[in-house]
Amino acid sequence: MSGTAPWWRDAVIYQVYIRSFADGNGDGVGDIAGIRSRLPYLKSLGVDAIWINPWYKSPMADHGYDVADYRAIDPLFGTVAEAEELIAEAHRHGIRVIPDIVPNHTSDQHAWFQAALAAGPGSPERERYVFRPGRGPDGGEPPNDWVSCFGGPAWTRLPDGDWYLHLFAPEQPDLNWEHPEVRAEFESILRFWFSRGVDGFRIDVAHGLVKHPGLPDLPPRQQPAQQGPLATADPSQEGPQQHTDHPHWDRDEVHEIYRAWRKVADEFPGDRCFVAEAWADTPERLAAYVRRDGLHTAFNFDFLMSSWSAKDLRAVIDDSLGMLGAVGAPATWVLSNHDVMRHTSRYGRTTVKRWAVNEPYRPEGPVDLELGTRRARAAALLMLALPGGAYIYQGEELGLPEVEDLPEAVLQDPIWERSGHTDRGRDGCRVPIPWSGRTPPYGFSPEDASAAPWLPQPADWAEHTVEAQTRDETSMLELYRGAVRLRREHPALGDGTLTWLDAAEGVLAFRRDPGFVCVVNLSATAYRLPDHTSILLASGTAQGGLLAPDEAVWLSV
Ligand code: NOJ
Repeated sequence: MSGTAPWWRDAVIYQVYIRSFADGNGDGVGDIAGIRSRLPYLKSLGVDAIWINPWYKSPMADHGYDVADYRAIDPLFGTVAEAEELIAEAHRHGIRVIPDIVPNHTSDQHAWFQAALAAGPGSPERERYVFRPGRGPDGGEPPNDWVSCFGGPAWTRLPDGDWYLHLFAPEQPDLNWEHPEVRAEFESILRFWFSRGVDGFRIDVAHGLVKHPGLPDLPPRQQPAQQGPLATADPSQEGPQQHTDHPHWDRDEVHEIYRAWRKVADEFPGDRCFVAEAWADTPERLAAYVRRDGLHTAFNFDFLMSSWSAKDLRAVIDDSLGMLGAVGAPATWVLSNHDVMRHTSRYGRTTVKRWAVNEPYRPEGPVDLELGTRRARAAALLMLALPGGAYIYQGEELGLPEVEDLPEAVLQDPIWERSGHTDRGRDGCRVPIPWSGRTPPYGFSPEDASAAPWLPQPADWAEHTVEAQTRDETSMLELYRGAVRLRREHPALGDGTLTWLDAAEGVLAFRRDPGFVCVVNLSATAYRLPDHTSILLASGTAQGGLLAPDEAVWLSV
C-alpha cells in the first residue's frame, strides 16, 4: 500500500449487519455491545474499517433503514454513549468506523413526518416530503405510475386525500431534497456523528435523492423502478447497459448535494470519507459520484453482478478502473452485501446468467455449494488482489451460504409482504453469524440468552463457526486472514494499477508491481502456472504447477 495516500483508497472494509453480527444482551438481536466484544476478531481478520448498517432509533419496518431519530441509537442496539465507546475502542484497535446514513427517506415515525400528517394538506410541514393530490376525478389515482422497490405503488393515500411518495415501504416516506431545511438538517446530522469520531458514512440510496420536479410518469422502457437487485425484471433489457434519463434515479442535480457534504467532511481532521450506494447504469455515471469535489468512493456493483466468467469479469474490471481512474478515484470491489444472495450460493449455480442492472438475481437450477465455495475462495483472492478498496460482508469470510429454506413464518423482509408472497426477500443473507459451538445460537447470543436469534440458524452450521475454522489452514476464514495480511504487507497490493498477462481463454492473469501475479482459472481445464519464484497463497492446492478450474493463486515473480 502507498504510505501517504488516504486510507480509504485501498481499505478493506468489513460490513457489520448489526442485528446479525453479535448479540451482547441476549435478546436474540445483535447490538453495539456485541460488536465491541468481537473487535479482537475483526482485528485478527486484519480489516481497516467497519461499515455498520443503520443503528439509529427506528421502528424497524426495514430493519433500521426507516430512521425515526438520526441523533439517537435504537434501544435494541444500545445508546449514543455506547456508540462513542465503540468508536473509541475500535480506533484503539486501529479499526475505523463508518455508519450508514439514510437521506432518501425517514421513518413515518420521524417527528417531521408526524408533524406533516398532523398539519394537513398544503401545509409547510408537508413540503419537507413529497405530498401531492391524486389523479382522476376524485383524486383516487396515485399522482404518477412510480412503483416501490419493495413491490406495489410508490404512493400511499392518507385519509385527508393527499398522497405521499415512498420509493421503498410506506413506512419510509421520501424526503424533498429541494427543501433547504432538509439539506441543512442532514449537514447537521453529519456533523453530529463526525464530531463523535466516525470516520465516514455509507450513503444509502445515494442516487435517489433528487426527483424530476414535474414527477412525470416513467418512460415506457423504465417500468422497473429500481436499479439494482431489488428490481422487477425487464426481459427487454439486453446487451451493454446505456444511460437513460430517469425521473427519480441518478439525476445530475444530486451531485450538488454531495459537493456540500464533501465540504462538511473536510471541516473535520483526519481523512473522513463517504461511500455511495449508487446504482448507476454505466461506469461513467458511477464515476460522476466520485469526482474530486464530490464523494470519495462508491460501491462497484458491476463486479458483484458479474457472472462467473473471465470475459465478463475482465470487462467490468477494465471499465471500472478506466472510468474511476479518469476522475482520480479508487475502485471498490464487493461480492456480497445484506441485499443480495450470498455469493457462495450465486456461484454455486451451474447456469451462469448475466445479471443486468434492471434484473434481480433469480437463482436457476439446484445449488452446488461445493462448487460455489471453490469459486468464492478464488473470487476472494481476485477481489483482494485488485487495485483499490474491498468490502467483506460479514460471514463471507466463513463461507456462509444463503439460507434458502427459511420457513415462511419467520420471513421479516418487507419485500415478502409487499410482493404478495412472491419474492422471499433478503432474509436468507441476514441469518445471524455462527461464532462457536455445535448448535444454534453458535455463540451469537450469550449462553443465558432470553431469546433465540431473530432468524433461525441452520442446524448444520457447526463447521462454519469462527471457532471451527480458526487455525484450520484449509478454511475460508484462514484464507481471508492470510489474504488480508499479505495484502497489507505486500508493496504491490492495495492502491495502484495492474497489467494483464496473456493467458488462455477463461483465465484471468495480471501482474502488479513489484513482483506479484494473480491467476484465476475460470475455464473448465487445468491451467499451467506462469513462471514464478513462489506461491504466496492459493485458493486450492495448485499442485504440480497446475491451477485447477475455479481456483486462484497469488504468485511471487
Ligand atoms: C438500500 C439498503 O441497502 C437496503 O437494505 C434498504 O432496504 C434500502 N436501501 C432502503 O433504505
